Amino acid sequence: MRVIVCDTYEEMSKEAAKIMAAQVHLKPNCVLGLATGSTPVGAYNELVAMYKNGEIDFKDVTTFNLDEYYPIKRNNDQSYYYFMHDNLFNHINIPEERIHVLNGEVADPEKECADYDKHIVEHGGIDLQLLGIGRNGHIAFNEPDENLVAATHVTGLTEDTIDANARFFDDIKDVPTKSLTMGMAPIMKARKILILINGKGKHAALSKLLSGEISTSCPATMLNMHNDVVVICDKEAYNG
Ligand code: PGA
Repeated sequence: MRVIVCDTYEEMSKEAAKIMAAQVHLKPNCVLGLATGSTPVGAYNELVAMYKNGEIDFKDVTTFNLDEYYPIKRNNDQSYYYFMHDNLFNHINIPEERIHVLNGEVADPEKECADYDKHIVEHGGIDLQLLGIGRNGHIAFNEPDENLVAATHVTGLTEDTIDANARFFDDIKDVPTKSLTMGMAPIMKARKILILINGKGKHAALSKLLSGEISTSCPATMLNMHNDVVVICDKEAYNG
């Protein structure tokens, strides 16, 4: 695992965008796994700036997002579908048909999840997966538990995650209590993983990840079994 410790969030975002842009240059028709949350926003801003400067072309790129609330309408400004368009897709030249976000509107969420895994395989798997991490060590919405689920699935959110995400909603009661999430298998099968971790609140989760111990009580620690992971963090997350 390669660990890059940056002084600031801005520096982290630039580093992450450089790696993502390098992936797109290397393989213009690559498959990117993308994440939501506040952490990747800076990297997305950098990618948009690079696109506007003519430094990167997304026309042949395919994306699969990690997760989505359930149930939620795509036009709800708290849906991850909306978030991704607002922060990235609306500002670059990726064709809409190459964008994949689990659909929080469907009547049959289990089928949605099974189809999603099939689509990832049909596209040849994920070349580069971008991840954030929860304060509790979750990746996507794979929450700490006795068992983790390999396939993409419907899951409940823990109280800690609902509490962490309440800042985006008018009322904590409005935070959906379920989600559709990529499971551990499609994440671990990504050829390369880039995980971004900033702020003191993530220190405990980062420390567990870097301890080298693996536990389902901190799902991110599974990344210790992957052979190409880059951790980009800031000093606050690193030093606590
Ligand atoms: P955050 O969320 O970037 O908003 O902290 C990350 C996550 O929960 O994976």
